[in-house]
Amino acid sequence: MAILPLWNALGEDYSKKGYLTFNAKPLGSEERPLILRTYCPEPKLDRNHVLGNHSRGTKVARYSARSGKESDKAISPINGIPAAIAVNLGKKLSYVWDTTECRLLYAWTDGFLDMKNYWGNQAGGRRKGFGYVPELYGFLFYKAQGKHPIHINGKSIAELGALKYLGYEIDESKQPVFSYLAGKHSLEFTPRSGPGKQTLKLTVSTGGKEMITFNSPKTQVKEMSSEPGKLVVVVRPNAGDRYSSDRKVVAIKEASLAKGEELYNSMGCVACHTTDGGLNHGPTFKGLAGSHREFISAKAQKADDAYLIESIQNPSAKTVKGYLLGMMPPYQLQPLEYESLVLFIKTCK
Ligand code: HEC
Repeated sequence: MAILPLWNALGEDYSKKGYLTFNAKPLGSEERPLILRTYCPEPKLDRNHVLGNHSRGTKVARYSARSGKESDKAISPINGIPAAIAVNLGKKLSYVWDTTECRLLYAWTDGFLDMKNYWGNQAGGRRKGFGYVPELYGFLFYKAQGKHPIHINGKSIAELGALKYLGYEIDESKQPVFSYLAGKHSLEFTPRSGPGKQTLKLTVSTGGKEMITFNSPKTQVKEMSSEPGKLVVVVRPNAGDRYSSDRKVVAIKEASLAKGEELYNSMGCVACHTTDGGLNHGPTFKGLAGSHREFISAKAQKADDAYLIESIQNPSAKTVKGYLLGMMPPYQLQPLEYESLVLFIKTCK
């Protein structure tokens, strides 16, 4: 079989568009994942719980290429997460696996990594000093929070003893399987895109008879199957941030229904709120505007415009009865964007 150049393998001829650069943003696919060992961006992760093992690395002195000498000053670590493996399966899913923590760090849709800082800027022609980590690009729906969620016989992986990363293999469906030793257990993790929008299916197996559970107060999962030595869960959204390499925020001039609908899809509301009365992680938008709302600990009230905006901007202010506190991420938007979303919610009757 002929070996295809990267741009052909990805289904698009980037050679016609010039060089393969960050502008081209080529994506992988389920059949042909794009796998990158890299430094990855770090959108506000909890350093103590999520990245506890990263500080155990050996400190090295900074080396000067000009003088050929090592400085006695402590090195300033660069931003981002070393030892990450970033995988893209097309627009539907990208994720970062942290080989040091043995853990899924984040999952997002729409894009992959913007490598501009890493490869250099076309216009400027150089890398960006010590800030050369790639940037996450797209809509982040999951990020690691709190203690390691996978438990073996009731104990978090982080408490099992020394973690040893063995490497990854590509299985018959062409996707990576990450292998570890954790204390006396051997572990395999297989992330996949999940059913529906903004979900990830994670399979954990030990090859033994251990009881495996996913246990995190910050993240909900849907258990698909559980048997001795094997767990399959669908990880649900616990974040909602859009990252774009074109950091300019385009100011909108007026609130509109069209903008509201666009935000509903692009901001990930669609992953948790239906418009037709269907059940999901959050209440349906159908019949919401103007209705009587009851909360877990606040006084009941009518869903007027101010309430709807408050619910988007600061969801933990009031938690709707029957739903989980802290599941909906807070959204910091422009005032006219909140208003556009309100217009959209009002059309869901
Ligand atoms: C990760 C899932 C999730 C995402 C994403 C999400 N929400 Fe929510 N939302 C919830 C949950 C759960 C509740 C109910 C608990 C609460 O009140 O915080 C809720 C409550 C609400 C409410 C109050 C509903 C009521 O019945 O009174 C509004 C309005 C709302 N969300 C709008 C939005 C909008 C607009 C977006 C996108 C910009 C969004 N949500 C994104 C999960 C989500």
